[in-house]
Amino acid sequence: MKRFTIIKDYISYYLKAKTKHAIHSPFVFEFVTKVLNKKTVVNENILKIEKLRKELLSSVKEINVKDFGVGSSFAKSSMREVSNIVRTSAKSKKYANLFFRIADYYKFLKILELGTSTGISSMYMASASPEIKLFTIEGCPEIAALAAENIKKIGLNNINQIIGNFDDVLIQVLDKEKYFDCIFFDGNHSKDATIRYFEQCLPYIGNNTFFIFDDINWSEGMKEAWSYIIKHPSVKVTIDLYFIGIVTFRKELSKEDFIIRF
Ligand SMILES: C[S@@+](CC[C@H](N)C(=O)[O-])C[C@H]1O[C@@H](n2cnc3c(N)ncnc32)[C@H](O)[C@@H]1O
Repeated sequence: MKRFTIIKDYISYYLKAKTKHAIHSPFVFEFVTKVLNKKTVVNENILKIEKLRKELLSSVKEINVKDFGVGSSFAKSSMREVSNIVRTSAKSKKYANLFFRIADYYKFLKILELGTSTGISSMYMASASPEIKLFTIEGCPEIAALAAENIKKIGLNNINQIIGNFDDVLIQVLDKEKYFDCIFFDGNHSKDATIRYFEQCLPYIGNNTFFIFDDINWSEGMKEAWSYIIKHPSVKVTIDLYFIGIVTFRKELSKEDFIIRF
C-alpha cells in the first residue's frame, strides 16, 4: 500500500478509535485497563530478548531466504542480511510486550504462531509462563535455524518449532494438538490465505480462545480478510488496534466490533 494511504488510514483509525472512557463492554474495559494500557512488569527474559534484538539488528551476516511472496515484499533476492530480516519482520517492542501481557493475563497454556521468523514474538509469548507450550511454524529453513539459535540463547525450552509451508503443516499441527488458547497469524498476508487459515483453525478453539491477526490494514486484501473475519458467525468481540486485530469467541459476550487506540 502507498505511504500516503497508510498515513491517511492511520489518521482515520486514530480519530475513530475509542479510549477506555467510551467502552461499555466489561470484557473490553477489563482488557483495556488491565492489559492494553498496563506496563509490562520487568521480566528477565524480555531484557535478554531486547538485548538480542539489538545484536541481530546490527548483524551483517547473510542467510538464504526462501521467499513466500505476499507479506515479504522486501525479500526480492534470496540472500538477506539478518539485520534486514529483523527490522522488516519482527514485531516491535510495544506489540511484543502486549502479546506477553495478553498471554500472562489470560493464562494461556497452548499458543500457536504462524510465522516464526527470527523468533522475537515467539520468545516474548513463551516468556509469559514456563507452563505455556508454544508451537511456531516457519517455512524458511535458514530463518527457522536462526530462530532456534536465538531461542537457545534466551534459554527457553517451551517453544516447539515446526518447519514447513503453512499450507502443508498447519493442519498436521492442529490435528495433533487439538486445541489452542491463542493463535497468532503472522505470515502470508494475503486475503485468501488469511481467510483459509482462519477457517482451518476454527474447529480447534475453545470458548476463551483468542485469535490475533497481524497487519489487518496492510493492504486492501487484508482489510477485506479482516472484514470477513469480524462478520463470521462464530466471532464475538473483536478489537482493531490498527496494526493488529484481536478476535474472541466467548458465547457470553454480545457481538461488538471495537476500534481502540493503542
Ligand atoms: C512477519 S514474519 C513473522 C515475524 C515474527 N512473528 C515476529 O514478530 O518475530 C512472517 C514469517 O512467515 C513466514 N511465512 C510466510 N508465508 C509462509 C507460509 N506460507 N508458510 C510458512 N511460512 C511462511 C516468512 O518466511 C516469515 O519469516
